Amino acid sequence: MARRGIEIKKPGQLLAMRRAGLVVARTLVRVGQAVSPGMTTAELDQIARDALAEHGAGSSFLHYGGGWGAPPYPAVTCISVNEEIVHGIPGDRALAEGDIVSVDFGAHLDGFHGDAARTFLVGEVTPEARELSRVTEESMWAGIGAYRLGGRLGDISAAIEQYILAHPMASGEEYGIIREYTGHGIGSQMHQEPDVPNWGRAGRGPKLVEGMVLAIEPMCTLGTEDTVELDDQWTIVTADNSLASHWENTVTATKDGLWVLTLEDGGEEELTRRGLPFGPLAD
Ligand code: MF3
Ligand code: CO
Repeated sequence: MARRGIEIKKPGQLLAMRRAGLVVARTLVRVGQAVSPGMTTAELDQIARDALAEHGAGSSFLHYGGGWGAPPYPAVTCISVNEEIVHGIPGDRALAEGDIVSVDFGAHLDGFHGDAARTFLVGEVTPEARELSRVTEESMWAGIGAYRLGGRLGDISAAIEQYILAHPMASGEEYGIIREYTGHGIGSQMHQEPDVPNWGRAGRGPKLVEGMVLAIEPMCTLGTEDTVELDDQWTIVTADNSLASHWENTVTATKDGLWVLTLEDGGEEELTRRGLPFGPLAD
């Protein structure tokens, strides 16, 4: 069933999405535990490949796209270090103390996808880098917190943007909000309608109804909002080489509250800590 092109999931399909989301949650924990100086991004990708195999799940990213002229995506994770914002291709780059590294990972199981990203800190990082990741993560939670049945998609976008604007750097400067890449609907395909921009106006856009599932994924920088695509036709970096952070979860709203499909506990702890209602479906 679709509503203006938006796939509406039945309860049984949401439970399938939860199973895919759990693979994503567990894999990202495992990759995060391996993040350390000297580790290469290809080694981190291999950990994710092994986790997919163990769970009997498929990769949402491997061989993705190519439709716009870019080669098919060659890995199961996107690993974006420092000035890389998104879609970094794993390779022989070794992580170094002080790096910040965004790992984005998608898995499908029983025909449904989960998609999430975390920014990991490699050892001691600068206070500015730590704060960049914290504000980006919190803006994701602000967006998740604005997701409620009967609301509008613009409520989520506006909440993300407003959080970022209300929490500038210690210097007083605003963080850059990436506008060229957005969150998205997700379900029987990884990328579905609607786009979920990280800025916008509350009260606008499609109505948020039961059975919708959204990947909410803000990206912020310590400088510009302008992006550059590298010659590999995938990696997106900041135009001014400033650091970037990316956080993402796959989320749905039920009659009882919010359900973060890509966290082990469904988001219970993080939601409760922020005074947000936790509303998983019973299986
Ligand atoms: N996970 C990314 C997103 O959040 C997309 C990855 S692009 C791929 O939308 F090619 F790697 F799949
Ligand atoms: Co996504």
